[in-house]
Amino acid sequence: MLAFSKKQKPHTFSIRPINPVIGAEITDIDLRKTIDDKTVSEITNAIQENLVIFFPEQNISPSEQVNFAKKFGDVAKVPDSMFRVHPKNPYVSILENGPKQPPTVNNWHSDYCFAPEPDFLSILHTQIVPDIGGDTIWVNMYAAYEALSPKMKNLLCDLRATHDFMKLYERPIKAYLWEGERFKYMEAARKNFPPVSHPVVRAISETQKKALFVNESFTRHIEGMSELESMNVLKYLFDHIRAPEYQIRFQWKPNTLAVWDNRVTIHYALADYFPKRRLVHRVTVLNHEVPV
Ligand SMILES: [Fe+2]
Repeated sequence: MLAFSKKQKPHTFSIRPINPVIGAEITDIDLRKTIDDKTVSEITNAIQENLVIFFPEQNISPSEQVNFAKKFGDVAKVPDSMFRVHPKNPYVSILENGPKQPPTVNNWHSDYCFAPEPDFLSILHTQIVPDIGGDTIWVNMYAAYEALSPKMKNLLCDLRATHDFMKLYERPIKAYLWEGERFKYMEAARKNFPPVSHPVVRAISETQKKALFVNESFTRHIEGMSELESMNVLKYLFDHIRAPEYQIRFQWKPNTLAVWDNRVTIHYALADYFPKRRLVHRVTVLNHEVPV
């Protein structure tokens, strides 16, 4: 595992911010080749600074995607229960929507925040994307936290919230996942992911900065508050973090590799392209720090 190092100007690729608050594009790099430690360190710094990085025109295989991911930490095997596993690589999940499976991931979330140790990086490679539509939006949760008043920061700083897999997956829009053969996998996921507690404000050790860590899909309840108090504080936060000023909206092309830090971002995949097809490969890098 490479530690985050001090900011330095990259020497091994070109980087261009594509939004003032979140998101940058890295070019002049071929991810099919093995990248050296210096480049990994520079990409790590770029992720730290921009939170989501896009590498366009990367025609990489699933194993090359996994090898790239392993440069940043331990890579998670795909839980068979929830996602389609790539037939040739157990570390790659296949996320597909199209005429037979309308998109239903248009909900704000961070990947696996309902796990005891939420994921660090998601690394997504586009295979098939619609000509128009199917954009993804990410939110800079450092910026969302910073924009709060000192009084609100004070209220939130010691709070913890329950994150619950079932908050999203018990919704009627996800009912199709519990039908037929898939029921046993979803039931296994329900048992594997009981509700967990996470801080509402998360301090990230490398940056010494704080970020909000709540999302509409999985954050169920603020601990120690009445139901009404929790509901209203969370509603305020969910409204607050939807402000366009903290967002980037990205239009995909095939063979784009995107890397984002789930600890300090949430995202939303627009479901506006039905019945067109969208197929992406995702690899997950596990968390490497204990939230403080
Ligand atoms: Fe996601």
